[in-house]
Amino acid sequence: MTELKQIYKCNVCGNIVEVLHAGKGELVCCGQPMELLGEKTEDVGKEKHVPVIEKTNSAIKVKVGSVPHPMEDAHYIEWIEIIADGNVYRKFLNPGDAPEVEFKVSANKIVAREYCNVHGLWKSG
Ligand SMILES: [Fe+2]
Repeated sequence: MTELKQIYKCNVCGNIVEVLHAGKGELVCCGQPMELLGEKTEDVGKEKHVPVIEKTNSAIKVKVGSVPHPMEDAHYIEWIEIIADGNVYRKFLNPGDAPEVEFKVSANKIVAREYCNVHGLWKSG
């Protein structure tokens, strides 16, 4: 049984999928169940992952995190997304990019998530 917007990873091949329509079945890849990624919301250690949201009149900016996260080949933020009044906006990033994104949208209720290729899935508090 899945839930909308859950993110699952295959620990064999590295596939990562998001649920766009929940169903009763278990997600399986490479012959084994996929891992449901938990949404971490509290930083520990010196690297900061929790997304920081800055709202202006015309845009929503998200930074990872309170101290800029590394964007190196072996360790970087793969994507940042916001769920703004129920709508999902996502930008994919590459090593060398800034660990931040600006969406030209306005919304009342905003949640941000990001995925670090080493430390997993994080959500704004
Ligand atoms: Fe990280």
